[in-house]
Amino acid sequence: MNEKQAQNRIPLTIGEGADELAAARLSERFPVGQPAEDELCLRLDGEGLALVSGGQELRGDFTRLLSRVQNGAWQRELLARAAKLKGVDGPLTAVDATAGLGEDSLVLAAAGYCVRMYERNDVIYELLRDAVERARKTPELAEIAGRMEVLHGDSAGAMAALDTPPDIILLDPMFPARQKSALVKKKLQMIQQLETPCTDEASLLLAAAKAKPRRLIIKRPPKGPFLAGVKPDYSISGKAVRFDCIADPFGKLHTFKLEIPTE
Ligand SMILES: C[S@@+](CC[C@H](N)C(=O)[O-])C[C@H]1O[C@@H](n2cnc3c(N)ncnc32)[C@H](O)[C@@H]1O
Repeated sequence: MNEKQAQNRIPLTIGEGADELAAARLSERFPVGQPAEDELCLRLDGEGLALVSGGQELRGDFTRLLSRVQNGAWQRELLARAAKLKGVDGPLTAVDATAGLGEDSLVLAAAGYCVRMYERNDVIYELLRDAVERARKTPELAEIAGRMEVLHGDSAGAMAALDTPPDIILLDPMFPARQKSALVKKKLQMIQQLETPCTDEASLLLAAAKAKPRRLIIKRPPKGPFLAGVKPDYSISGKAVRFDCIADPFGKLHTFKLEIPTE
């Protein structure tokens, strides 16, 4: 087990007002105990689950994003533009193969997609699950969060087992290294301590293409390289982010020159 994976067995503290069912479930997965000073740990209390270290705390919090998704505001989001499909009827389906703390999934769900969110990191999965559960109890977010399903595990394998091709698949494998404010940077550093670097870009892209979505959307830094070197059909770019789009990626698989690492 490497250092980052070991850190996923971080201590859990249970505070006042913690939900009893959540406390029982989480204590089976994380060692309950008092963390050393500045040690990264999980804390469950009346406000939900948070990742805590050195006086900083990070929790999944969709209420912070309300102004971006409420009253049609989601239509201004680049991701919603990238995910706009013409002439497709019925409930739209999306797979967020790298869910993280679910911000992009929230935008997709606000745009009407039923989103299956896969997160492989134990701690990030728990933070995400907690955030979605709280959003379901928040009147302004309940309908949107009702379209978000959180699943624990590696999406590459899970996408191979999907019964029906989703309309879109979103890939965003790494948390961005650079952030504007020092506080955001500190909080992201906490989560980056848990992440394992994405060494399987090509496998992830291949698995996504094989799941036959109508469109594959890949989130990148504005000037970042294409994921696994695969050139998209087109990109939708903003100041902070770029969405690379590939229509019918399965039909184009023969044009991808992917180098799949061997185990
Ligand atoms: C950059 S974050 C995603 C942020 C997300 N788009 C958001 O809006 O919050 C990448 C996340 O993908 C997860 N991840 C990377 N590869 C994965 C895989 N193959 N299966 C499931 N999760 C994966 C990482 O653990 C990390 O939490």
